[in-house]
Amino acid sequence: MAQRPILITGAAGFIAWHVSASLLARGERVIGLDNLDPWYDPKFKRQNLHDLSTHNPGLFEFVHADIVDAAAVGACFAAHAPRAVVHLAAKAGVRPSIADPAGYAAANVVGTANILTASQRHGVERVVIASSSSVYGNSAEAPFREEMDVGGPISPYAATKRACELLAFTHHHLTKMPTACLRFFTVYGPRQRPDLAISRFLGRISRGETIEVFGDGTSSRDYTYASDIAAGVLAAMDRIDRFGYRVWNLGHSAPVALRDMIAAIARVVGRSANITHRPMQPGDVERTWADLTRSRAELGYEPRTEFEEGVRRQWEWMRTQHPE
Ligand SMILES: NC(=O)c1ccc[n+]([C@@H]2O[C@H](COP(=O)([O-])OP(=O)(O)OC[C@H]3O[C@@H](n4cnc5c(N)ncnc54)[C@H](O)[C@@H]3O)[C@@H](O)[C@H]2O)c1
Repeated sequence: MAQRPILITGAAGFIAWHVSASLLARGERVIGLDNLDPWYDPKFKRQNLHDLSTHNPGLFEFVHADIVDAAAVGACFAAHAPRAVVHLAAKAGVRPSIADPAGYAAANVVGTANILTASQRHGVERVVIASSSSVYGNSAEAPFREEMDVGGPISPYAATKRACELLAFTHHHLTKMPTACLRFFTVYGPRQRPDLAISRFLGRISRGETIEVFGDGTSSRDYTYASDIAAGVLAAMDRIDRFGYRVWNLGHSAPVALRDMIAAIARVVGRSANITHRPMQPGDVERTWADLTRSRAELGYEPRTEFEEGVRRQWEWMRTQHPE
């Protein structure tokens, strides 16, 4: 009998494309669920779905459904009987969450509860859930270790991601289902969300347009290349049964200051950056920095793509989408 498939939620999105492509490359059947949320242009999402299905005929199937709709989620699980779930669907931006905490709570918290309930009812064997480095808030201590206190999220988005981790813990406690939460650190690479800074700056600097920079350029992010994240997601899925419930950081552990990120982008596109400075935005943290001791030891996780090389690959991909 054929192996039961893996369900990826948020399958039309950026990170899910890389995770799905990695699973398909090893011959897995993937069911991709997404509601094509219009918060950024769904043409990018349709392109991702098109590429996944045309490159993997017969292995990838798309289900258009909203994770807030418990009946639609249950129907998808009943129809496809996934053996594992990689739950990546979410409203994902930090800044827009300040204007819409209820919308974020619905998609991220109620949606996650629906995915966990359906997993329990339909015989799923393991679950992997996307969390975020934002749960560390403005922690004074760095690099960030998984066992640090994460009681101070500073945006509604971060609070919903922490809530997902707590729901996942409870789910594991009650069901004993192996359940992993992965704290991703600012992910970039081909197909990156168009709202994220690297994507926006590559476009604007290459066209000679001014970019808005929030703060004095010293804030920093631990940028992590998308295929490194995908490798970590697969390792977590493969190994979570040895741990029960576990939180792992997936980062690069090499923070890049905003001004250095802009300089790298300017080198990659071959133009200098015109900058307008604006005050730091509420909800934005000063820095992120992953400690990878646990994920290296337990997952064999090892980020491989250096920042400027990753930016170059993202830029090359963007140019194939919009040839001059
Ligand atoms: N990109 C990053 O740097 C980053 C960092 C930390 C955590 N994460 C997390 O990783 C996951 C993937 O993020 P991404 O950057 O690929 O974002 P993305 O927006 O490209 O992908 C998320 C997908 O979820 C879908 N979605 C949203 N609400 C839904 C709903 N109610 N029902 C069904 N589908 C829904 C969207 O349509 C989208 O395709 C998210 O959980 C995000 O919070 C991302």
